[in-house]
Amino acid sequence: MEIRVATQEDWPGLWPIIEEVVRQGETYCWPVDATEEQCRAWWMGKAGGTVFVAVDDDGAVAGTAELHPNQPAAGSHVANAGFMVASHASGRGLGRALATHVIEAAAGQGFTAMQFNAVVSTNVHAIQLWQSLGFEVLTVIPQAFNHPVHGLVGLNVMHRVL
Ligand SMILES: CC(C)(COP(=O)(O)OP(=O)(O)OC[C@H]1O[C@@H](n2cnc3c(N)ncnc32)[C@H](O)[C@@H]1OP(=O)(O)O)[C@@H](O)C(=O)NCCC(=O)NCCS
Repeated sequence: MEIRVATQEDWPGLWPIIEEVVRQGETYCWPVDATEEQCRAWWMGKAGGTVFVAVDDDGAVAGTAELHPNQPAAGSHVANAGFMVASHASGRGLGRALATHVIEAAAGQGFTAMQFNAVVSTNVHAIQLWQSLGFEVLTVIPQAFNHPVHGLVGLNVMHRVL
């Protein structure tokens, strides 16, 4: 498995992974019926952003991450990032490898901290993974996410210094 910076040519490999996560509606505050172009702009088009792919030995994209400033201008030294691993590749360490890579890349780009604004409280494996990588939960915003199965649940704000 290789992790590298994505190019626009990687989009056909990224889209099935992103589409699955978006259609489930359980982990990101995005409309479940978002179009491919909306998702592409959201993942690939953020100002100052870098997109990464985790590529299997056979060349297939199995996971992706995106890194960007959490806020513009005076807040741009704090990074934000998103992560998605194909469900068929989950539990093999890709998420951990991607996050480790992105944390190092963010520090290398000069970011001084990383903040996650909206980790759904039911996404316990992700929360545990981020905690194991040094993130702490700063607060949980109550009933901030309308989960398709569990209804109104919290959103965790998570943070670590780089
Ligand atoms: C969260 C996500 C990126 C994790 O990716 P992953 O490749 O499955 O994660 P890893 O294989 O690196 O596993 C990370 C840890 O979680 C645990 N884990 C992951 N999925 C698990 C599951 N279904 N059951 C039990 N443990 C699980 C692993 O055991 C591992 O712990 P360890 O490293 O201490 O052994 C992936 O599940 C995903 O894309 N989810 C949908 C989108 C999402 O939630 N993104 C994050 C938003 S904050």
